[in-house]
Amino acid sequence: MRRSFTLVGVLLVLALFSNVPWLITGSSHCKRTHSAAIRPHSVTITEFGAVGDGVTLNTKAFQNAIFYLNSFVDKGGAELFVPAGKWLTGSFDLISHLTLWLDKDAVILGSTNPDDWPVVDPLPSYGQGRELPGGRHRSLIYGRNLTDVVITGDNGTIDGQGTIWWNWFLTKTLTHTRPHLVELMNSSGIVISNLTFINSPFWTIHPVYCSHVIVQNVTIRAPLESPNTDGIDPDSSDNVCIEDCYISTGDDLIAIKSGWDEYGISYGRPCRNITIHRLVGQTRTSAGIAIGSEMSGGVSEVHAENIQFYNSNTGIRIKTSPGRGGYVRNIHISNVRLTDVKIAIRFTGLYGEHPDGHYDPEALPIIERITIENVTGDDIEYAGILEGIEADTFLDICLLNVTLNVTSNSPWNCSYIQGYSDSVSPETCESLRESISPHHHSDCYHLSSHLLNSSNQNRGSRLLSW
Ligand SMILES: *[C@@H]1O[C@H](CO)[C@@H](O)[C@H](O)[C@H]1NC(C)=O
Ligand SMILES: *[C@@H]1O[C@H](CO)[C@@H](O)[C@H](O)[C@H]1NC(C)=O
Ligand SMILES: *[C@@H]1O[C@H](CO)[C@@H](O)[C@H](O)[C@H]1NC(C)=O
Ligand SMILES: *[C@@H]1O[C@H](CO)[C@@H](O)[C@H](O)[C@H]1NC(C)=O
Ligand SMILES: *[C@@H]1O[C@H](CO)[C@@H](O)[C@H](O)[C@H]1NC(C)=O
Ligand SMILES: *[C@@H]1O[C@H](CO)[C@@H](O)[C@H](O)[C@H]1NC(C)=O
Ligand SMILES: *[C@@H]1O[C@H](CO)[C@@H](O)[C@H](O)[C@H]1NC(C)=O
Ligand SMILES: *[C@@H]1O[C@H](CO)[C@@H](O)[C@H](O)[C@H]1NC(C)=O
Ligand SMILES: *[C@@H]1O[C@H](CO)[C@@H](O)[C@H](O)[C@H]1NC(C)=O
Ligand SMILES: *[C@@H]1O[C@H](CO)[C@@H](O)[C@H](O)[C@H]1NC(C)=O
Ligand SMILES: *[C@@H]1O[C@H](CO)[C@@H](O)[C@H](O)[C@H]1NC(C)=O
Repeated sequence: MRRSFTLVGVLLVLALFSNVPWLITGSSHCKRTHSAAIRPHSVTITEFGAVGDGVTLNTKAFQNAIFYLNSFVDKGGAELFVPAGKWLTGSFDLISHLTLWLDKDAVILGSTNPDDWPVVDPLPSYGQGRELPGGRHRSLIYGRNLTDVVITGDNGTIDGQGTIWWNWFLTKTLTHTRPHLVELMNSSGIVISNLTFINSPFWTIHPVYCSHVIVQNVTIRAPLESPNTDGIDPDSSDNVCIEDCYISTGDDLIAIKSGWDEYGISYGRPCRNITIHRLVGQTRTSAGIAIGSEMSGGVSEVHAENIQFYNSNTGIRIKTSPGRGGYVRNIHISNVRLTDVKIAIRFTGLYGEHPDGHYDPEALPIIERITIENVTGDDIEYAGILEGIEADTFLDICLLNVTLNVTSNSPWNCSYIQGYSDSVSPETCESLRESISPHHHSDCYHLSSHLLNSSNQNRGSRLLSW
């Protein structure tokens, strides 16, 4: 029986947090490329006529403020300060060398009129909107072709007021794909930190075709049953670092993507070098960390560690399908604690969902070198449901030190999977039972060094320097 989110859930969260020294201390894995931007110029949104009463529409004030700040782009950039208040707005565009700062008790509210979210072209790597043909509504906070952008503050809130969009989606009354809360496209040097994001109409934070993105110390929430409210979706982006985040939404907490079927294959921009560090969250319908299902441009070098999911459907998931092409390789996920999770690890090779009828069913994804280690789980139903694709076996899947308290009497179910394991309980499926040590270290991606000893050190160290 799933636990409902009641006092029990709240107590569980408190217990989880209080047990986790790394949430409070420890060093950061995210390195900023631009020095912590101190902007020489700052303006307050009220100087542009904004009214923080939650009723007045402030789209023009945001646009005018940013237009004005554009004159400081080559003078060290500028800050737009949003004070306490409820600032209703439609979609607005950011510029380079800008800091958007939300003070404590500042809330940016997304307009509930869809006309305030203009329709823009579909992404070339998707060919059409993700939900409907044609264009898509532009995100509330949008940026394109930018460099050095910081969205931060003192735990202010960006609220998409998504309820109305979820209802339109469920009643099939929309003509275009729902908007994200924040989307940055073809941009680099992005920092999103120290804020709370709630009730996104669709995916919450979507960096696409971006480089050097940091998302740090943010809280993302949406109701557990809200449709497609993914937390953070790095998409065809590289050098992305996500750290110290708490995410509780109605879909995947983090979903790493790179385009959809023939559009993603021809656009050919992979997602690469994605770091996830110290993530806590829950999702009753989906996965804590997902890769796919759109992965046609390829996904590689994903490193996730110190992860906790509770009250969730799935812990770690890879989703793909014939027609996707692309690859998912060199994935390393370690130090995971799962509590009350239905399926700890899930691979789905026949996910389906195609943009149109023009995909090539022969375009098979390559899934290989996936290492998952140091996992503990309590109150787990299935340890692993690992389904590869016929004639397209998922290779070098390595499980090390995985200990799960499982209720199902067939805890593992694997098809078209090949790999190795050590210290997995309950005993894993036949196709993963061959031991990693000592002959298969080099087949596994980036194993922790404690398994390496003098006789296989050389093979090991080559592995560690990807
Ligand atoms: C990306 O942005 C750069 C400028 O920052 C621009 O030169 C380039 O054409 C843009 N590419 C796309 C696909 O938008
Ligand atoms: C971004 O760059 C692309 C390609 O150069 C261009 O077509 C587009 O208009 C630019 N968009 C913005 C908002 O600057
Ligand atoms: C996280 O953000 C809050 C404000 O949202 C701030 O008070 C706190 O110091 C931040 N913690 C870290 C480690 O940056
Ligand atoms: C920020 O505010 C949210 C509620 O809006 C709260 O849940 C969260 O704990 C706060 N984060 C920090 C770091 O204070
Ligand atoms: C978050 O806020 C804390 C406290 O003000 C500050 O020290 C830290 O640099 C901020 N982090 C980021 C990434 O903005
Ligand atoms: C991976 O990305 C991080 C930023 O998150 C960067 O510091 C690091 O140099 C990148 N590593 C490689 C091998 O590109
Ligand atoms: C196995 O993983 C758990 C936590 O994930 C860790 O505490 C334990 O030390 C690990 N054991 C070994 C032998 O690595
Ligand atoms: C699994 O359950 C047993 C007995 O109920 C308990 O001793 C053990 O600590 C649990 N293990 C984990 C990893 O939660
Ligand atoms: C494994 O999964 C397949 C289909 O995915 C199902 O037909 C089969 O019954 C399952 N086996 C066990 C032992 O649960
Ligand atoms: C070290 O490697 C040797 C041979 O490769 C193997 O027999 C031995 O079990 C390994 N020791 C450990 C602790 O893994
Ligand atoms: C797994 O846990 C062991 C024991 O705590 C630790 O030595 C090792 O570094 C961990 N592995 C990773 C990849 O963190």
